[in-house]
Amino acid sequence: MEIRFLGHSAFELVDGATTVLIDPFLTGNPKAATTAEELHPDAILLTHGHADHIGDTVQIAKRTKPAVVAIVEIARELAEDGLDNLHEPNIGGTVRFDWGWVKLVPAWHTSTTPKGTVNTPAGLLVHIGGKTIYHLGDTGLFSDLALMSGMASRAGVAVAEAPGGAIDVALMCIGGYFTMDRFDAVEAARLVGARQIIPCHYDTFPPIETDAQAFKTDVEAEGLAEVVVLEPGARHEP
Ligand code: NI
Ligand code: MN
Repeated sequence: MEIRFLGHSAFELVDGATTVLIDPFLTGNPKAATTAEELHPDAILLTHGHADHIGDTVQIAKRTKPAVVAIVEIARELAEDGLDNLHEPNIGGTVRFDWGWVKLVPAWHTSTTPKGTVNTPAGLLVHIGGKTIYHLGDTGLFSDLALMSGMASRAGVAVAEAPGGAIDVALMCIGGYFTMDRFDAVEAARLVGARQIIPCHYDTFPPIETDAQAFKTDVEAEGLAEVVVLEPGARHEP
């Protein structure tokens, strides 16, 4: 499978003919690698309802009719917006598809949608193409990040099948101000124990400018993970 960074916190996970889109914030995103009109996902997964994550979900979903996974309060708002094919889990829940599964896990943040729906933010453990990808969502550093690898295992991956741990790639916010910064993210890398980390949620706006290469140096100096810094639009095969 292949991971494509679309800018900010948006990613596509592609396995053969299946495309899973996470946090599709393209319109108004100064780092967007594409436009909402060019995307044709089979599923859209949301970490939380802030505008820089829910983004173009309604517009894309009305056009391409993907499955949409969002925590129940957001899913109900999306239903009122006219979307169907919605899945509305809550923290700890797993939604299974023929291409894999997604499990909602805790994240420490706040969230209200642009329309005013208050909702609990989540991280997403996603299994696709034999790989487990962990999108941390927006979060500060918290000790339960050490539980994520086990939660991925119990959701369906034997650790033995994934050398180096149950999580192959962590998509990790490092920009600070709205989330943990690159220094706390080094400790997050230690707790999560992913084989590879792709940093995100930085350099989109002035308050979240940071040095991703310095984060890579710090994480790799401690032997915690391989850090893959992607420019918006770039792809990575884990
Ligand atoms: Ni947020
Ligand atoms: Mn955000």
